[in-house]
Amino acid sequence: MTLTPKTTDEDKRRDSKRDDAHLDGFGPLPVALETELRKLEQAFTVDTAKLKEISLHFENELRKGLSRVSRCLLPSPPSSPHSDESDSEDYFGFQTEEGNLPMNPTWVLGWPSGRETGEYLTLDLGGTKLRICWVTLSDRNNEPIVDQEIYQIPEHYKAGEAEQLWSFLANSIADFVQDRELEPDEGTVLPLGFTFSYPAVQEYIDHGVLHTWTKGWDIKGVEGHDVAGQLRQAIRRKGLPIDIVALMNDTTGAMIASAYHDPETIIGAITGPGCNACYMENCGSISKLDGHSLPANLPMAINCEYGAFDNEHLVLPRTEYDVAIDEESPRPGEQAFEKMSAGMYCSEIFRQIVLDLWTRKLVFKGQSATKLKVPYVLDIDFMFDLEEDFSHKLSKTRMLLRSVLQLDANDAELLFCRHIVEIINTRSTRLSTCGVSAICRKKDIKSGHVAADAVMASRPRLKARWAQALGEVLDWPQDREHDPIIMTVARDGSGVGAAVISAMTLQRIADGDLTGVKQK
Ligand code: GLC
Repeated sequence: MTLTPKTTDEDKRRDSKRDDAHLDGFGPLPVALETELRKLEQAFTVDTAKLKEISLHFENELRKGLSRVSRCLLPSPPSSPHSDESDSEDYFGFQTEEGNLPMNPTWVLGWPSGRETGEYLTLDLGGTKLRICWVTLSDRNNEPIVDQEIYQIPEHYKAGEAEQLWSFLANSIADFVQDRELEPDEGTVLPLGFTFSYPAVQEYIDHGVLHTWTKGWDIKGVEGHDVAGQLRQAIRRKGLPIDIVALMNDTTGAMIASAYHDPETIIGAITGPGCNACYMENCGSISKLDGHSLPANLPMAINCEYGAFDNEHLVLPRTEYDVAIDEESPRPGEQAFEKMSAGMYCSEIFRQIVLDLWTRKLVFKGQSATKLKVPYVLDIDFMFDLEEDFSHKLSKTRMLLRSVLQLDANDAELLFCRHIVEIINTRSTRLSTCGVSAICRKKDIKSGHVAADAVMASRPRLKARWAQALGEVLDWPQDREHDPIIMTVARDGSGVGAAVISAMTLQRIADGDLTGVKQK
């Protein structure tokens, strides 16, 4: 290592985490690469003061999102192949005074008791795969039984038509139900919990109008329509004895699944494919729901959809690579925070940097960049695999660069790649604490568990970095014995979480409380 030690908090933090014995044996970087590395380090560093500034702005945005006032019908709904039926009236939008955070009410009213039981179908649509489960809940003290099947969603469907998507889902459900020989009791239907990990505005728990596709999806005929309604129609067309009891976001599922077993859960957070969080708010603080006359102390989970934070670019320190990623995405100007912090975009930032340096003949000189030129060729794990490569002289990294990008790295290129991975991951982790700290401050939460997806929560280096940054923003004492807020690995949100939310909803209906239920 030839990087000159600096004296900032940022460096102390990084140095304290360094366990770089496996990097011994590498010589110094060539001057040109060293200079590039320095520039990148500077551009990607988010110091404590900046973190605090972002977090403060975040807190204001959370409040604005809850107090958004007017809901309006938009003039002309985009055409949908299903607009003939029940979702035709569902195209609406919000007129915002200011701010970007949707802060979507979920109609998940309160925490699970831990006594939820029963059998539920669950469906998870949110990334590259479709997951269908049959979940059996006993109670908090027993491990739920999850029988699952994964279905690969053809890549081109993500830019296809609504009809194709919903038919694929309904056909997959039909296969699953037939394969497992699942049948409802006489006169009933199988209850389905649907995890839809995109920003859906929910007027009811079994309804949700897609506001905008995120994470690179771009299927026509869904935005502005009730996704539960569209799936319900596709299920009916197949003649399946199934009904959607609850629609939820992956963050809500993660929070409730975790709280089912761990009552100290305060937040559900996702950082892998996208970046978002869910927490429990009091209805009295959700003034955009004032018209519903809900009790002020009634708790309701809020899906923040905070990937959309700072779409106006007021506080986030964007680099040229962030700008390029945004401009090349299907929805430029949207999901500013997500595009700088979610795992899927971190890999893309890495690719853009290496490609930039290749173009300037600073790395991989004379080698073909055919693979390197393919957008999103690197999956989320790539970045973590590189950062967690403790093999002698980064032999695993060398192998991955060869197999995934068809690039043969020399020592300097290996070391350089390793450093930029660290720089990108560090920024992402530090930024992700801004949303969590803002929620904690807004709710005056001093301790508890943040249930996060395994992408971050199961990686010790990232987790330590996250705790360090959260402590910086929230001014935790340096000499603390324990971190008051810790990250836990979220339980299975789209399986167990969806089942628990379905159970809670059915129980509410059975108790005669139809608050936030459409298909009564
Ligand atoms: C995107 C989606 C959001 C989801 C997150 C994580 O931000 O808009 O709904 O929770 O990704 O999957």
